[in-house]
Amino acid sequence: MKTLITGGTVVNSTGTVAADVLIDGETIAAVLSPGSSLLGFDVAANVDTLIDATGRYVIPGGIDAHTHMEMPFGGTFASDTFETGTRAAAWGGTTSIVDFVVQYAGENVIDQFNLWHTKAAGNCAIDYGFHQILSDVQDSSLTAMDELLAEGVSSFKLFMAYKGVFLSDDGQITKAMQKAASNGSMIMMHAENGSIIDLLVQQAIAAGNTSPYYHGLTRPWQAEEEATHRAIMMANLTGAPLYVVHVSAKQAVEQIAAARDQGQNVFGETCPQYLYLSLEEQLGAPGFEGAKWVCSTPLRSRAEGHQHHMWQSLRTNDIQMVSTDHCPFCMKGQKDMGIGDFSKIPNGIGSVEHRMDLLFQGVVDRQITLERWVELTSTTPARMFGMYGRKGVIQPGADADVVIYDPKGHTSIGVGRTHHMNMDYSAWEGFEIDGHVDTVLSRGKVIVDGNQYVGTKGDGRYFKRGLSQYLI
Ligand code: URP
Ligand code: ZN
Ligand code: ZN
Ligand code: ZN
Repeated sequence: MKTLITGGTVVNSTGTVAADVLIDGETIAAVLSPGSSLLGFDVAANVDTLIDATGRYVIPGGIDAHTHMEMPFGGTFASDTFETGTRAAAWGGTTSIVDFVVQYAGENVIDQFNLWHTKAAGNCAIDYGFHQILSDVQDSSLTAMDELLAEGVSSFKLFMAYKGVFLSDDGQITKAMQKAASNGSMIMMHAENGSIIDLLVQQAIAAGNTSPYYHGLTRPWQAEEEATHRAIMMANLTGAPLYVVHVSAKQAVEQIAAARDQGQNVFGETCPQYLYLSLEEQLGAPGFEGAKWVCSTPLRSRAEGHQHHMWQSLRTNDIQMVSTDHCPFCMKGQKDMGIGDFSKIPNGIGSVEHRMDLLFQGVVDRQITLERWVELTSTTPARMFGMYGRKGVIQPGADADVVIYDPKGHTSIGVGRTHHMNMDYSAWEGFEIDGHVDTVLSRGKVIVDGNQYVGTKGDGRYFKRGLSQYLI
């Protein structure tokens, strides 16, 4: 089965070139200067599918390295299953996800890993890998870190918040980091000071400040900066590579930037919500509306300039990549558990479908270059998490995960229009994007064609990841 994509502009993180892309089976066979594929080559006889990409960008499929499909959290489950969530991802030009296996205290890490395989197998529209959450750093968890590495899990998330649920203390974190330093894996950190947050939440509720807005006020930037600094120091001590997830505060970015300037293997991820949305406009919406945007770390104050600074950090590479932290909950029956007490609102926002579009709007708005768009959403995620070469690049030998993106197209985001996530609202309602995902190929097979999903449930395969290819 051969496919030829002609007339498009191939965009890699390293540059942009007019080229045709020949796909043979599941992989890219050649990237050819325009028209040369037709010289002495009988297209009709040799190619099964011809795709005209004239006027459009041909980019490596998006990689969303932070998702929580059907995650058990806050007394309920994230509302997208692997089936609905990966299909929505495909609609939005994302062809791989890395999802988090959850271990709660007392649970066996390997059992949980096997359980996540059961949830995902046979259900995914696109390829997927796993990170492992560790809530209980005991001897068996440390042994499991070696076993999981052999299974393609090369990154482990720890939490400095959510006492009694996910939180590890500094001794446990240091222990896990020592293991990561010795086996080469990556420590991912939810960096917020849980003790400060728990106190402020208690005080807010006691004072009758129960609306979603207080979710933001009780998780101040100081709690994020402090934890980020502490995590960096523990990583410095142990030599473990550190990847700080869902960074929202500009002060946390500064901590990461300072460590990177010293040559430490410290990386930062932000999410579209921290680039576009704010404490004032979204969390502060009237009544209970703000619950739609309750996530942690929280949306930050626009008056304090966090969003502006975050775009800047994407240009300077103080922040290296953008994932969604896709963790959707419906308003009805899930978010509404927190009416009268914001601390009971399940934490999370659903965005897996919109990341490529939202970041492309950053290109249109001249916040980032076209190549940086690809780097932030595909190439760096692939390198950071040991998938590069097969993923994250349009080059011979790579998996043919390809998106044809129309810069003259348009996407109106909202429930019932472009929305395929299993949610009863959109955190991005009313966003207008000056671009459009036209065609999506997953390992050589067209899965989105114009405005039609033509993929097959279960075609997505588990990706056994290697060690990070981003370390110095
Ligand atoms: O609010 C969030 N971020 N929910 C998902 C869990 C996490 O901490 O990443
Ligand atoms: Zn987190
Ligand atoms: Zn998350
Ligand atoms: Zn279009």
